[in-house]
Amino acid sequence: MQGFQLYEHASTVPIASYNTEEWQKGYRSLKQEYDYWVDEIEGEIPPELEGTLYRNGPGLLDVNGERIQHPFDGDGMICAIAFKDGRAHFRNRFVRTEGYVAEQQAGKILHRGVFGTQKPGGWLANIFDTKIKNIANTQILYWGSKLLALWEAAEPHRLDPRSLETLGLEFFDGAIQPGGSFAAHPWIDPSSQFDNGAPCLVNFSIKAGLSFTINIYELDVEGKVVRHHDHPVPGFAFIHDFAITPNYCIFFQNPVKFNPLPFLMGTRSAGECIQFQPDQPTKVILIPRDIASCPKPIVLETHSGFVFHHANAYEQGDEIIIDSVCYENLPSVEPGADYRETQFEALAPGQLWRFRMNLETKDVQRQLLESRCCEFPFVHPAKAGRKHRYAYLGAAHTAEGNAPLQAILKVDVESDQRQLWSAAPNGYVGEPVFVPRGANSSGLYTELQGDEDDGWLFTMVYDSKHDRTDVVILDAKDLEKGAIARLHLKHHVPYGLHGSFTPHYFES
Ligand code: CO
Repeated sequence: MQGFQLYEHASTVPIASYNTEEWQKGYRSLKQEYDYWVDEIEGEIPPELEGTLYRNGPGLLDVNGERIQHPFDGDGMICAIAFKDGRAHFRNRFVRTEGYVAEQQAGKILHRGVFGTQKPGGWLANIFDTKIKNIANTQILYWGSKLLALWEAAEPHRLDPRSLETLGLEFFDGAIQPGGSFAAHPWIDPSSQFDNGAPCLVNFSIKAGLSFTINIYELDVEGKVVRHHDHPVPGFAFIHDFAITPNYCIFFQNPVKFNPLPFLMGTRSAGECIQFQPDQPTKVILIPRDIASCPKPIVLETHSGFVFHHANAYEQGDEIIIDSVCYENLPSVEPGADYRETQFEALAPGQLWRFRMNLETKDVQRQLLESRCCEFPFVHPAKAGRKHRYAYLGAAHTAEGNAPLQAILKVDVESDQRQLWSAAPNGYVGEPVFVPRGANSSGLYTELQGDEDDGWLFTMVYDSKHDRTDVVILDAKDLEKGAIARLHLKHHVPYGLHGSFTPHYFES
């Protein structure tokens, strides 16, 4: 192992909880599309559990043996696990994007990917007016009776919620133009003050250029865009996620610069031209949601760092508080580098930080909430934009250092207590999706029906020993009692990105 010199007390570093070759096996394509009842189950699926868990992620890590350079470039594949009466049905389907269909027909890679896969195209290519491949691989969400597969640099794809058949691109009645985009991290405001307290979906898109523009979209429960506003911001942006409060959309403009020359010359992909600027601050951009009064964005500055994901934000007096997974820096993507050879120990771990932003004094204070390596934060949906007590995260098995995610961590930000469920040494986890015990009459989880941790956590765990993936259900109140149910799939599912749950049962 390398990189132990990075630790202050090398002697306290535990023996690795994982094996690199075993971890790598989770990064193989799953080319086959399945459709079956899960019949191998350890434990018991809660009989009252009803609904469908959707998950998106790269399903292909190669095209006909030609390697995709980075998993972020892999074609989106949806898994749907439908639960009812203690049973579970599994289905997976690739999103039939234009690029996926063309490459499968050609039997080779036709597009250059944002993160290193070679061929013309790419996301920042909007600037250079070259064609992009919409890979639809990041998030999947059921909203307004539509199942939408999202990728931040292009239009959503609409799918059939039962068969997962691709129905086409979604433009929300013209709110998004062809060639436009819709980010992969929408929030559901459980009680929008602009909609008489009804829930609404809030999302954004980034339009790149010499400066960039943040577009905000708010959709009502029918899926109609009811508010849309644009805000030009100077500089370059690499913004994957955001957070909301009742009054603001919050963006972290990470300190990165983009040198387009190697990209234009064709020697580097767009992602390989992004360089972290450790001497520059992170800018926090607060965009007011009240478009009636048209207020301008507020820009604050904080410590340099890189954020992919925010857990949640809320307002308290003059302050806005946001909990985010923050890295000390963003390693450059080097041309030809193999992501499977990641030296975890040499990289800064993601850690959970709390930022307190005072809107009066413009002061930003930050505080480390959790030093354990973690990612993919999730809170109760009724707490979106409101003060939360619990955050759930994918985490490393050991408390120190950087490592693959092998555990699910529950952080109680009030009592500072922790619960951990670990799948080490053979298991590698994904995002924990928290599902409250009861949905409301409109099929949403926007009201707190019991305790904030009254519900289940779902995660997909690659079991390297059996070379298959398990869908694991945990009791969110008590992670340490172990899995309630462990559903053994008949195959592996490559490591994925984000998912969501709907109380609608979509089996066939
Ligand atoms: Co994400």
